[in-house]
Amino acid sequence: MKKQHELFGFQRYLMAKKTVDDRALNKDVFQYVNQQLKVSGRKRILEVGGGIGTMIQRLFETVPFFDVDYTLMDVEADNLAVVLSVFSDYASCHHIHMDILEKDHFILSTDGKKARVHLLEGDLLKLPDFDFEPWDGIITHAVLDLLPLDAALPVLFACLKPGGWLYSTINFDGMTLLEPEIDPILDYQIMRAYHNSMDARRLGELTSAGSLTGRKLFFALQEYNFLIQGAGASDWFVFANEGLYPSDEAYFLECILDFFEESVGRRGVIESDQFQGWLEQRRGQIKSGALILITHQYDYFALRPAKNKN
Ligand SMILES: C[S@@+](CC[C@H](N)C(=O)[O-])C[C@H]1O[C@@H](n2cnc3c(N)ncnc32)[C@H](O)[C@@H]1O
Repeated sequence: MKKQHELFGFQRYLMAKKTVDDRALNKDVFQYVNQQLKVSGRKRILEVGGGIGTMIQRLFETVPFFDVDYTLMDVEADNLAVVLSVFSDYASCHHIHMDILEKDHFILSTDGKKARVHLLEGDLLKLPDFDFEPWDGIITHAVLDLLPLDAALPVLFACLKPGGWLYSTINFDGMTLLEPEIDPILDYQIMRAYHNSMDARRLGELTSAGSLTGRKLFFALQEYNFLIQGAGASDWFVFANEGLYPSDEAYFLECILDFFEESVGRRGVIESDQFQGWLEQRRGQIKSGALILITHQYDYFALRPAKNKN
């Protein structure tokens, strides 16, 4: 695995988030993907907003066998730029054979598992402009809250073959809990301002799905003709064991506080000194191993029907 001290900023955050997501992902909902990948034959998968590719690592770690052409798409070139080096280290640490064919195309293989990975820099909402063949499966992991569902879901639907599947995970749903409490009123006001900043995110004229994406998706998926097969909670729960956070999760928590600082600070609804004092106390709680973070999220597995509705 790419040593975490060699990744910086947002890419290090995404790597640090992996172990948090591993624990959080709903294991029942994941079984649907497992079943799809186990069926013999080569499958074409698209991951939208795939970041640095940690979902591919997860497939190697948890699915017994698969054979996939995996398009790892992200709108940020900086994320895709580290993928080759991340996987060079990952492959050597996990005894996976890696063939680098081009700077945006490599193959990972080990007993019974093969992924031909293609990197694609692009915006999901502009995918209809590309000439593509529909995919067997699409993954969106910790992404849909950033996008307007009314624009994103029809594109995802159109990108799937009839009978194809969507695995959409870590869809935030309205609760961030930081413990131990500092001041119940201030904690609440900061939480509200944080969630409001998610709801205020705009993409041009459109509003992103925001802080209640998890529950909205249950209805929106059906509105856009997906058939929901599996759904369940995938809450993050981060805590220290005997004062130590696992893997790079202390860094993950620092990033969460940085997100608070940026988004809540920008809104200017909390008095500045009070907010800085709160951040300082929370950062102190990370250092002493006292801080607990819980966030509420949902995972979904849904199908595009094999036949169109009349
Ligand atoms: C919170 S990160 C999650 C990354 C990755 N799925 C993970 O969990 O490690 C959200 C990702 O979505 C990407 N993204 C945001 N809007 C996008 C869009 N319209 N099309 C494609 N990717 C997008 C971002 O660049 C970012 O990498």
